[in-house]
Amino acid sequence: MLDWMKSTQGYSALMMTIWPAVLIGVLPVGCLFYMNSSLSAPDFITIAILSLGIMGPLVAAIFLTDDFSKIATITGEITAVLSEPDLDRPSQRKNLKGLDISLRDVTFAYKDTQVLNGITLDIKQGTTTALVGPSGSGKSTIAKLIASYWDVGGGHITIGGVDAKGLPPEQVMDLIGYVSQDNFLFNLSVRENIRMGRPDATDTEVEAVAKAANCHEFIMGLEHGYDTIVGGAGGHLSGGERQRVAIARAMMKNAPIVILDEATSYTDPENEAVLQDAIGRLTHGKTLIVIAHRLSTITGAEQIAVVDHGKILDAGTHGALLERCPLYQQMWAAHTQARDNDQMEGGAAYV
Ligand SMILES: Nc1ncnc2c1ncn2[C@@H]1O[C@H](COP(=O)(O)OP(=O)(O)OP(=O)(O)O)[C@@H](O)[C@H]1O
Ligand SMILES: [Mg+2]
Repeated sequence: MLDWMKSTQGYSALMMTIWPAVLIGVLPVGCLFYMNSSLSAPDFITIAILSLGIMGPLVAAIFLTDDFSKIATITGEITAVLSEPDLDRPSQRKNLKGLDISLRDVTFAYKDTQVLNGITLDIKQGTTTALVGPSGSGKSTIAKLIASYWDVGGGHITIGGVDAKGLPPEQVMDLIGYVSQDNFLFNLSVRENIRMGRPDATDTEVEAVAKAANCHEFIMGLEHGYDTIVGGAGGHLSGGERQRVAIARAMMKNAPIVILDEATSYTDPENEAVLQDAIGRLTHGKTLIVIAHRLSTITGAEQIAVVDHGKILDAGTHGALLERCPLYQQMWAAHTQARDNDQMEGGAAYV
């Protein structure tokens, strides 16, 4: 944008200077016509006066074309959202038998790109399942399919024994608290962002949850405390702070299934410790599906599933995978090496 502005501003300045100076053209040409008697003096004066008034509206009309293209862009974006096909789901809530989640031969493609190639995984109620694997292997996509962001391409996902395609989206949303990788905050106060997890929560409840999520202290340090506006997409907060507010929002919701898609970038040791502490409280006694980039945080999980190229290579406990899964061994070696290097350098970003 800046480059384009710089390259065109000379011409536009020139035009905006010369163009409104209509008298430069009107006066000499008018004089010429007057002298050879094709224009009378009163007409000449009228034209000179009128010409002064014509440029304002013309310039305004040209700026209006700018507004039209802005409107076209915005309506285009809104139309794109509205024209997405609805999930074809019933509205009648179903009775579930427990909250076990199971994926059977699940395939999925974003438009033409096949992303998941037959995922089969069982997630028992009340346990922790970690998804690990290289970037782009499909971990977040699995999480989004469980949360019914899209329907599966092939295969089935069942929750409590019922096919997710037979559950109304509202029921799935009530069951699942989802802290996504690109946790999004709305341009409202911190308080309203947390309350979004449960709109009828009182201020005292919001603050209690913020304390549990280790947010209270930094929020009190903000200019207007809980009433500080977080900026577009939470831009006035740091990445780690945004993540903690997103966790507080999920805690507020208190859903029995929690999906946590960890972002990698906010991993200074101090933030890491408070984050883990907050996550521990959020997920106590719940079914937790965590997408972990720092393997040391999930070694205690009941089940770790190694995802690669849209397939599950292996699933088991940390110990079992270290013995038999080459990719997990590699990832673990890379992780511990990075951690050791860091400790030698006095504890930097990677824990
Ligand atoms: N909305 C989308 N539209 C098109 N392609 C997508 C979309 N989201 C993800 N993809 C593609 O699907 C593949 C899997 O993405 P996914 O986000 O599930 O990976 P991931 O395992 O979560 O990676 P990371 O560890 O980097 O978060 C990638 O190749 C990605 O480019
Ligand atoms: Mg991801």
